[in-house]
Amino acid sequence: MAGVNGDRKGKKDDNGIGAAIDFMLSNAKLVLGVGGAAMLGIATLAVKRMYDRAISAPTSPTKMEQKGKQSWEEPAWVGSSPRVLNHDMKATISRSLQSLPTASNSFEPDYLRRAVGRAAVKGSGPTQSDLLRARMRLSLQERLWDFYQHDVDIPAEEQAVARKAALDICAELRVFLHAKLPDMPLREMYLSGSLYDDLQVVTADHAQLMVPLILEKNLWSSIPGEDTIMNVPGFWLVRRENLEYFPRNSSYWDRCMVGGYLSPKSVLEVFDKLVGTINWPAIGSVLDYVIRPVVPSETLTLEVQYETDRKLSVDFLPLLVMEDGTSLIAKPHRLAAERHENLWRQSFRVAETARLRALDQEDGGYRCACLKVAKAVCKLNPALNRLNASQLTNAILLLSEKQANWTHEALADNFLQLVKALVGYLEAGRLPCALSPRVNLFCELTEQEVDELGYTLYCALSEPELLLVTGETQLPHLS
Ligand SMILES: *[C@@H]1O[C@H](CO)[C@@H](O)[C@H](O)[C@H]1NC(C)=O
Ligand SMILES: *[C@@H]1O[C@H](CO)[C@@H](O)[C@H](O)[C@H]1NC(C)=O
Ligand SMILES: *[C@@H]1O[C@H](CO)[C@@H](O)[C@H](O)[C@H]1NC(C)=O
Repeated sequence: MAGVNGDRKGKKDDNGIGAAIDFMLSNAKLVLGVGGAAMLGIATLAVKRMYDRAISAPTSPTKMEQKGKQSWEEPAWVGSSPRVLNHDMKATISRSLQSLPTASNSFEPDYLRRAVGRAAVKGSGPTQSDLLRARMRLSLQERLWDFYQHDVDIPAEEQAVARKAALDICAELRVFLHAKLPDMPLREMYLSGSLYDDLQVVTADHAQLMVPLILEKNLWSSIPGEDTIMNVPGFWLVRRENLEYFPRNSSYWDRCMVGGYLSPKSVLEVFDKLVGTINWPAIGSVLDYVIRPVVPSETLTLEVQYETDRKLSVDFLPLLVMEDGTSLIAKPHRLAAERHENLWRQSFRVAETARLRALDQEDGGYRCACLKVAKAVCKLNPALNRLNASQLTNAILLLSEKQANWTHEALADNFLQLVKALVGYLEAGRLPCALSPRVNLFCELTEQEVDELGYTLYCALSEPELLLVTGETQLPHLS
């Protein structure tokens, strides 16, 4: 194959397919050893996309289109979900991986050449290649820190203004709820989220207002999701107990009972109705903000415009702290909200953030910095929006078990390790929660979303700098 022997002209001639294979091989080489052959599903999807793009490109020479079609349509690319690749396809790809003896010698300089901005490396021996690798790493390292300083980190002043806005809203709600419903058993509300852990990135734009409900210990018990018919670890049912001795209405929260369980949806509705009666325009004008409830919203969310160009969304989150310390929040299951209507979501946020910080403190490490870079990348790249703080935090916690060097200098290495690890987890469709391995943090992603995320990250492996884009430039950029 043209691309494999490093002949650039030949690569062009076979209409991007050589390039596609080359690309897949070079990335596969990068991830092999992390997820090994298991990575082939997403790799194959990446090649298929490139192939589709190549044959649909208006500049494609027709002759080559034909040729390409013939050799590539056979394995039945199109059809069912790309993750459910047929056996033949996987075998074909594995065979190409193994039957290309020159590949390991030739594509590496090639991928380096691309990564270093196409510097000439004709006839590079291993020494030069090592040198280039070091240079590439250095430049990625520099770009990551530059990105961190200019795009990721939020100025302290901006954070302070946002925190003040959140606090003002919290105070208003507190006064309102106490006045309207003095008998509602609540603990003090408090603000929480990355804005308070110095882990928010890019812009100070969200906070959570935690609203802890008081439940009578003898009247309510929690049942882990894996012990229920729904079998969803990470979610819980809260069951009403002792109804025969303490009949309905013995507990204030009985009004939110559905089928014998405390319904987070029903609890949210109670607050939704209340908060809906608040005169936000009036309060906003006193506080000098524009405040409006966000509709529709799966939770109760207020949008607060606190400066002409700055908005903060405040999630109002009812919270249960069970006897064993388990925190449950009223945030519905994303995919099966109807079927899982009665399920409370376990929140690991506080514990996982604490663990990350503790690890950093032990070795003076930069895990939190790596997390912030990753969060910003996912926030700024639409194709990666579905990955959130919890998933990234846990991927870093899991990586910390294998990776000991979290120094300032190792940021680029660790960032790449993180991307590779995520591709591996996406390929498997499973990211275990570091604090509770039964919980799959990808369980609320559709198969298609998993593919999209995996594809984007897989493509970015050979040119990770592309992830650090702050403008509209879309990923992946592959010619
Ligand atoms: C219990 O409360 C519900 C709604 O809050 C009310 O409709 C019902 O009459 C009450 N039942 C008793 C026995 O107090
Ligand atoms: C993380 O993202 C998933 C998928 O987008 C979502 O369902 C889940 O609620 C998010 N988790 C948290 C803690 O926000
Ligand atoms: C950590 O990694 C960096 C960059 O790869 C390297 O320069 C440094 O020597 C390593 N430190 C330790 C203690 O291994």
